[in-house]
Amino acid sequence: MKATATAHPNIALVKYWGKRNEKLILPHQSSLSVTLGPLQVTTTVEFTKLTTGPDVIEINGKSAEGTERTRVVELLSLVRKQAGAKAKLGGAIMISRGDFPASAGLASSAAAFAALAVAARAAAGFERDPRAESILARRGSGSASRSIEGGFVRWNRGKRADGNDSFGEQLFEAEHWPELRMLVGMVSREEKEVKSRDGMRSTVETSPYYPAWAKDAEREVKEIVKFIKRRDLQAVGEIAERNAWRMHATALAANPPLCYLKPATLAVIEACRYARQQGIGVWFTLDAGPNPVLLTSRADEHKVAELIRSHGADDVVHCVPGGDARVLSQPGKRIGGRA
Ligand code: DP6
Repeated sequence: MKATATAHPNIALVKYWGKRNEKLILPHQSSLSVTLGPLQVTTTVEFTKLTTGPDVIEINGKSAEGTERTRVVELLSLVRKQAGAKAKLGGAIMISRGDFPASAGLASSAAAFAALAVAARAAAGFERDPRAESILARRGSGSASRSIEGGFVRWNRGKRADGNDSFGEQLFEAEHWPELRMLVGMVSREEKEVKSRDGMRSTVETSPYYPAWAKDAEREVKEIVKFIKRRDLQAVGEIAERNAWRMHATALAANPPLCYLKPATLAVIEACRYARQQGIGVWFTLDAGPNPVLLTSRADEHKVAELIRSHGADDVVHCVPGGDARVLSQPGKRIGGRA
């Protein structure tokens, strides 16, 4: 009734922005991301037997409160329900730790809910099942559905009302493109004013461009897959940039407008364009925050890091395509064939 699991965050190359069902976290469109190694969140879940006491939730050394706590408790309750009364799963103790700052703007919730889903299911005695884990992780945070499997993952929109066809699916393993680099430029460490969850809700409700965004993103997912297959950095970079601009344009058109860019974000974006004219293969993407993520290759990695620093970033986080979420330990069970 105890297990520890680990998962990497991911960065979307074609973004998820907007839900068609808020409760089940079902998106309006498919999205596609690459998993970010070596960053990771490690989570231990232990279910106690027949205890009616409240769940104990500790995140990065602190007892979780408010919405953060509610979201974890809801996911644990889903696992208790799926396991059924016979399993007698009582209150849980969950301890989670990430090795990267939440303020990096790297949707830490993706890695956190993926690690939680894998650890909680394993602790409850379920066998590994990436699809079920992805659907469960999705209920915590949409982007977490893309952090169960490593490499390049598409989160299929799905059509069903119950969401059972809306999960992350690995298209290419991390080993498919080991030279790819994702560099996060830390231009700001401030908490963002509007969280992704609220920002996307407001965009769906008030941006006149929203229907066009959803339709176009679905098409871009199909297009980018061909280029990832060929490891064509230029084509992948161009789609990722365009898609990021379109997401932000749609959010800017919300009422009130949502602007996640800071002056330093634009400075780095401009520098990318200039660097390309100098023959450096670099493109940007941007989530709902000010820190751009630059896509480049191993060959240009150090030049690109230098470029980010010289345009206002005080730190650069270097990432490579990462692997699957894993169960690290499960007392009483053989893991990966070894005792
Ligand atoms: C801009 O997955 O954090 O990073 O489902 O409400 O928890 P919720 O949102 P979340 O949103 C991520 C938005 C994004 C784009 C992406 O990762 O696809």
